[in-house]
Amino acid sequence: MTDTSEQDRVLIFDTTLRDGEQSPGATMSHTEKLEIAALLDEMGVDIIEAGFPIASEGDFEAVSEIAKNAKNSVICGLSRAQIPDIERAWEAVKHAPRPRIHTFIGTSPLHRAIPNLTMDEMAERIHETVTHARNLCEDVQWSPMDATRTEHDYLCRVVEIAIRAGATTINIPDTVGYTAPRESAELIRMLIERVPGADTVIFSTHCHNDLGMATANSLAAVEAGARQIECTINGLGERAGNTALEEVVMALRVRNDIMPFATGIDTTKIMNISRRVSQVSGFPVQYNKAIVGKNAFAHESGIHQDGMLKNSETFEIMRPQDIGLSGTSLPLGKHSGRAALRAKLRDMGYEMGDNQLKDVFVRFKSLADRKKEVYDDDLIALLRDAGAAD
Ligand code: KIV
Ligand code: ZN
Repeated sequence: MTDTSEQDRVLIFDTTLRDGEQSPGATMSHTEKLEIAALLDEMGVDIIEAGFPIASEGDFEAVSEIAKNAKNSVICGLSRAQIPDIERAWEAVKHAPRPRIHTFIGTSPLHRAIPNLTMDEMAERIHETVTHARNLCEDVQWSPMDATRTEHDYLCRVVEIAIRAGATTINIPDTVGYTAPRESAELIRMLIERVPGADTVIFSTHCHNDLGMATANSLAAVEAGARQIECTINGLGERAGNTALEEVVMALRVRNDIMPFATGIDTTKIMNISRRVSQVSGFPVQYNKAIVGKNAFAHESGIHQDGMLKNSETFEIMRPQDIGLSGTSLPLGKHSGRAALRAKLRDMGYEMGDNQLKDVFVRFKSLADRKKEVYDDDLIALLRDAGAAD
C-alpha cells in the first residue's frame, strides 16, 4: 500500500446528521444520532456536522449531547446568517473539546431574491454574522449557498468579506447538484487565485448528487486545492443526496497514484456504519451502490467467478476486507460456471469427481433457470437427488 504520511491531508466533514437527516423521511431519534456520531468519531471523521440547533429543541439537545461526548472529531452546528441562530448553534456546540460554528447564506441571484437583500446589504449581513460567530468561536465555517450559480465577481467579493471577518473554512456548496467536474475544479482554482487571504483558510467542497456527479465534483475540487470534503454515509441527503463518504474516501485510497491525498478514515469501519445509517434512517442501500451495495463485491457470472477464484484482482479493484467485509461473495445463479460450483461444494465439504460434478452441474443449471439465486439448502437437496449426498 502507498505510504500516505507525507501527503496533503483532505479533511472529511460528515453531514449525515444534518444534511443527511434533511432527506424527507430520514429522521433519526436522539439515541440513534448519538450512536451514529460515536461511530463517525471512531472511524476518524475530522468534523461532524451534528445538526441545525435552531431548527428544533430535539436538534439542539442532540447537538449538545454529541458535543459533550465527542472524543476526536470537531463538532459543528449549522446556523443561518442570523444572530439568534448563531448564538443557538454556539450554545449547542460549545461543550465540545473542539467546537465549530457553520453559518451560511444563499448568494446566487435566485437565493438573494428570497430575503430581498441587495448585493451590498447581503455583503454587510455576511460581515456582521461571521464577525459575531468568530467572537464566540475560534473555528468558523462560512458557506455561500448555491455558490455554483453565483456570479464569480460577487462570489469573490463575499468570500473575501467572510475571510476578513474571521472565517477559517470557506465551504463552496453545489447546492442543487448543477456543476460538472471541470467547472467544480475551475471554481475552486479561481477563488484561490483571486481572493485576497485565500491562503489563510481551508477551502471545502459540498456537492449534491442531482446529476450523479457529486463524487466526481468533490474530487475535482480537491485536485484544484480544496482540502475538505463534505459528505454523508451512503450519500444520504436531500433529493438525490450528497457526496457519499465511502466513495470519496475509497477513491482517494484506491487511486492514490493519481490523487495523492490522505484522509484519516479507518476504512474498515465503513460497512458497519453504512448498515447502521441505513437501518436508523430507513433508507435501503441500492444493491449496486458503489462500495457498500450488496453486489459491490459479488460476482455471479461464470467468467467472473472463475477469474476471481484464480486471482481476486481480475475483477476487484479493492479488497472487501478494506471496508470491513469478510470477503468476496460468489452467489450461485444461472450465469455461474462449473468452477464456482465446484468451489462452493468443496467449501460445504463435498468433494466429487468430474463425472459426478458434470451431473450435478446439469441439475444445478436447470434449477438456476427457475430460481434467481441457488442457496446452500438448494444444493444439498440437489446433491441428494443426484445421489451425491445422504
Ligand atoms: O447544500 C447546501 O448548500 C447546504 C448548505 C447549508 C451548506 O447544505
Ligand atoms: Zn447541502
